[in-house]
Amino acid sequence: MLKITVDGKPIEVPANTLVVEAAKPLGVHIPVFCYHPKLAPVGMCRMCLVEVGTPKMDPATKKPMLDEQGNPVIAWMPKLQTGCTTTVSEGMAVRTTTQAVQDARRSVIEFLLTSHPLDCPICDKGGECPLQDHTLAYGPGVSRFRVESKFHNEKAVPLGPLIVLDRERCIQCARCIRFQDEIVDEPVLGFADRGRALEIVALDDPPFNSKFSGNTIDICPVGALTSNDFRFTARVFELNDHPSVCAHCSVGCNILIGERDHAIQRITPRENEAVNEIWLCDKGRFVHHYANSSERITQPMIRSGSELKPVSWYDALTAIVYRMNLIKTEHGGSALAGLAGDRVANEDLYLFQKLFREVIGSNNLEHRLGWSQWNAGADLVKNFGAGIGTNLGELGKNTTVLVLGADAEEEQPVIRLRLSKSAKLGANLIVANTRVTKLAKHSKQSLLYRPGTEAYFVAGLLRAISDENLFNADFVSSRTNGIDELKKSLTDYSIHEYAEKCGLDDDVLRAAARAFATSENALILFGREMMFAMQQEPALESALAALAVATGHIGRKDNGVIALYPHNNSTGAMDMGILPDRGVGRVPTNAKGLSLRDIVSGKPRTLYVMGCDPARDPFGFRKPEFLIVQDLFLTETAKKADVVLPAQSWAERDGTFTNTERRVQLFRAAIKPRGQARTDWSIIQEIAKQLGAQWNYHSSADVMNEITQRVPLYSKMSYDRLATTARRRTSVLTVGAESVEPVQIALGELFGDVSGAMWASVAESDPSARFDLNAMELRDGGRTTATREGLALVISRSLYDRGTLVNHSEIVQPRVPQPFVELNSHDAEELAIENSQRVRVSFNTNPARTIELPARVNGYVPPGVVSIPNNLDKTYNLPMGARVKVEKATE
Ligand code: SF4
Ligand code: SF4
Ligand code: FES
Repeated sequence: MLKITVDGKPIEVPANTLVVEAAKPLGVHIPVFCYHPKLAPVGMCRMCLVEVGTPKMDPATKKPMLDEQGNPVIAWMPKLQTGCTTTVSEGMAVRTTTQAVQDARRSVIEFLLTSHPLDCPICDKGGECPLQDHTLAYGPGVSRFRVESKFHNEKAVPLGPLIVLDRERCIQCARCIRFQDEIVDEPVLGFADRGRALEIVALDDPPFNSKFSGNTIDICPVGALTSNDFRFTARVFELNDHPSVCAHCSVGCNILIGERDHAIQRITPRENEAVNEIWLCDKGRFVHHYANSSERITQPMIRSGSELKPVSWYDALTAIVYRMNLIKTEHGGSALAGLAGDRVANEDLYLFQKLFREVIGSNNLEHRLGWSQWNAGADLVKNFGAGIGTNLGELGKNTTVLVLGADAEEEQPVIRLRLSKSAKLGANLIVANTRVTKLAKHSKQSLLYRPGTEAYFVAGLLRAISDENLFNADFVSSRTNGIDELKKSLTDYSIHEYAEKCGLDDDVLRAAARAFATSENALILFGREMMFAMQQEPALESALAALAVATGHIGRKDNGVIALYPHNNSTGAMDMGILPDRGVGRVPTNAKGLSLRDIVSGKPRTLYVMGCDPARDPFGFRKPEFLIVQDLFLTETAKKADVVLPAQSWAERDGTFTNTERRVQLFRAAIKPRGQARTDWSIIQEIAKQLGAQWNYHSSADVMNEITQRVPLYSKMSYDRLATTARRRTSVLTVGAESVEPVQIALGELFGDVSGAMWASVAESDPSARFDLNAMELRDGGRTTATREGLALVISRSLYDRGTLVNHSEIVQPRVPQPFVELNSHDAEELAIENSQRVRVSFNTNPARTIELPARVNGYVPPGVVSIPNNLDKTYNLPMGARVKVEKATE
């Protein structure tokens, strides 16, 4: 630690601290524009000029010279220094309030305002604008320039479909450019021209085609960047900011819902350094428009012939309870089944399964539809989930991260940002997949294994670790059983055979294994494609467990496994037991429920569907005798229903979601419910009560209180605890004579907040637990290798697709890509197919299926493999793991 003084006040700070940061704990705010704590300092705007001095040294004693009072004599630098680029040194003195500093700040503001327009009364940043605040606090008060002599640049220039640039407001701080370069690693923005004509331009085509473009609005210190949807709709000081959690992917980014007149006006990030820092992807920021959609269902409906007719809640619930009672009496509880989406809250899911298991007496429950159909690995997560405190954005040189079968850029975008950041901090990122993903660019090792050989790949890693004696001997002897059987089973194949099956070099496999086993910390992140492989090859799950356990990488921070599930509450759906073979707490689990295939094929007489759309799934949905659908929209399933119930969106109610890292996070109601929509949990309670249950929950907090008692993993997840940690710490800035709350993200006032609570894995909560290592029993790994006819199909995912929520958000439609098929250039050459050419893709499925798509010929897929993004126009329900034939389409 180094001792310095700021305006005469002493403080100790770590070496390499910048002067602007060193001053903050003393309550001294040095104004900045170009500096932002999340970006590398550049010293472009000069707003942070301060006086800096260092102790004068006595040449004879080599010690600081002292004045008559015994204080060090300071040698002040002849010119002001930029506090954002100057790092502290022992004995440094900083002055931030002298006349020279005040003059400099005044001049910088006056200079910036020579071209900045007088837009504050109509600017979207007005009220949260650092330029406005700094002008008030440090500016000259009057201008020496004539208004009409201001330099005028173009206004309202679309930088892309979502972001608009007002060129004359730009103060050329380059924060937006640096965000794209440093944080996203997509240099799609730049400066063009020189001097007064300098302007921000999009360098890519289509323009500003980044998944993270909205963040530039937040960090722009003026109103130069605005979003197409919030522009001129509300003043920021009219908004009520409600703390919430993103309802899309499983990252669980923390957000503020900016509400006015009970409508969502905008979504901005809420700082959580453990989850999203201060970033959001554009899906989380812009797709919220579905909540205000005029196509929402707003009242209950009952089928009358071929039509669904609006009815009262009383009539709808009476009809449901009458049919449920009748079917249960005549055919037993198992004639009823429930499908719940993994987008709804934990409280809804808990009561849904309680209704079925305790009131109706049925274990016919599932959540694995749509993108969640491959959800797997719940036991891996429960036993070996990454240790509490693991922060994917702050992993360092002593940590290896093995990312398997995942495409974080498209599926968990903010996790991609955070892993890229960790890679820059020195973490050893190993990315293994069947195709090249964006994250691979940041990895030390990028491995492409053949589709279908995932289990051989992981077993090959184990074999290499075993050969080099790199299992953690102490850990293995004290915490595991079965190491000898495991080692023996690994000898079924040599390293060369494992590597050859996967299409890799022996040395590549060995290097990855060595890096993982010898690293002080190691994490395994597995994604959707790995989960699909787990369902094909059960040994894969044991192999992943053995890799984590036998190397001792479990039960502590920065070690363990993370399942990258697709949706905001996929983990919660597993935790709450929306599965045919497991309940929660005291709920009976002895009887196994029907499989998903049976449930959707009309086998149960009554089906209750909450927040999902099985009629769009590839399982051949058949309407049962009685179908209840509870949702936001008239989905394909709802159109077939006998009774439709309107549910509230996440923005209309309280609840919790559990993110992909097992972090339980509280979200709060921000807007009034649409029409007669009710919370999912309260609808379920009403049905249960009418079926005779003595339930008495008054709020979602009441439901969570019961969850804390009946789901051991959630024993500490009361709303009181989650709400306390979700509260934002306050800080105060002095602007002129007034004290104001800082403009947090735009100004760079970050508090290091961490909210939500992770539940502990078995390995962490029970240090004496022993784990079984299973012998590898691998099936034929040639399932989809090049030895079989046709090309192996790998299904990819696009962040924006034809899902229900995206479809109801007009603003993001330009971002939904046209479908395509990716081909390796070798295969393309053999098939005489050129880039962009239309091709016919035939699947070896029964019934056979053919689609026509444009070809993208590139190096992102290896020879023998094609990749198609699912759920775009024409690409619904693609058959994962199929073989395909690709040929030129006839004109
Ligand atoms: Fe800075 Fe905003 Fe201009 Fe970008 S647009 S350079 S963030 S002022
Ligand atoms: Fe929402 Fe996921 Fe985007 Fe975060 S990364 S804003 S959770 S969609
Ligand atoms: Fe320091 Fe811009 S030069 S904030």
